[in-house]
Amino acid sequence: MPPAGAVQPGATLGLAALFPFGVSVAEGDPRASWPLPLPDERAAVARAVPRRAGEFAAGRALARRAMIQTGLPPAAIPAGADRAPIWPAAVCGTISHCADRCMAAVARRADGFRGLGLDVEPDEPLDVDLLPLIATPEERVRLGTSPAAAALRQGRMIFSAKECAYKAQYALTRTLLDFQDLTVSFGPDGTFTARFRREVAPFGAGDALDGRIAADGRHIVCALAIRD
Ligand SMILES: CC(C)(COP(=O)(O)OP(=O)(O)OC[C@H]1O[C@@H](n2cnc3c(N)ncnc32)[C@H](O)[C@@H]1OP(=O)(O)O)[C@@H](O)C(=O)NCCC(=O)NCCS
Repeated sequence: MPPAGAVQPGATLGLAALFPFGVSVAEGDPRASWPLPLPDERAAVARAVPRRAGEFAAGRALARRAMIQTGLPPAAIPAGADRAPIWPAAVCGTISHCADRCMAAVARRADGFRGLGLDVEPDEPLDVDLLPLIATPEERVRLGTSPAAAALRQGRMIFSAKECAYKAQYALTRTLLDFQDLTVSFGPDGTFTARFRREVAPFGAGDALDGRIAADGRHIVCALAIRD
């Protein structure tokens, strides 16, 4: 498995650098005080516990901050029945949060963007019991060559890359994927590739989505943009 040089603790990249030019990003602490969600958004968290309401409010506020940076009006982003954000027609976007970090990215569809994905995770080893669920047989073979602690950290990176790729592809496929539907490999320069293991129209088996990963010992962040 990788190429860990790209993702060693301390090798933090700024969030904006993980996306191509044309993507605007914003990040913050979900535990801070955030503006209330807009009226069209509130149903999604009407019965949420405070922590969930806070992360939702942070994600919406940060997405609007990113929209403004892109020159777009800061519109409402309701949640669909599938929980996916419903972005304004001109916008591609993505949101992720963990306990102490929330981030959002948006881009204009007019600039050729079709799907964005973001995932932020604590930079901690994956639970060993989750490895067979998250990693494909070929990924597990590659992990088997690493010492246990490193392998489980790589497992967390695989998890994060798949969550990120899942979100980006969903804008095009509207399809719920299983962790076994994608296989992830890492490059030596902070890149990763998530490859479909089955056809998920409009993607064919073997089609690849290319993203970037950074980790600094506290967080793992994966980012991916699908363009025309
Ligand atoms: C969405 C999902 C991938 C990540 O959720 P999570 O662990 O709570 O983590 P994150 O905080 O990183 O992401 C949550 C955000 O993703 C966004 N999201 C939810 N469903 C989404 C979808 N189908 N497509 C794109 N974005 C989605 C939302 O903005 C959500 O935040 P919000 O509810 O505050 O708006 C996960 O909950 C899920 O639906 N999993 C099923 C599919 C899957 O994981 N397959 C395996 C990977 S291939």
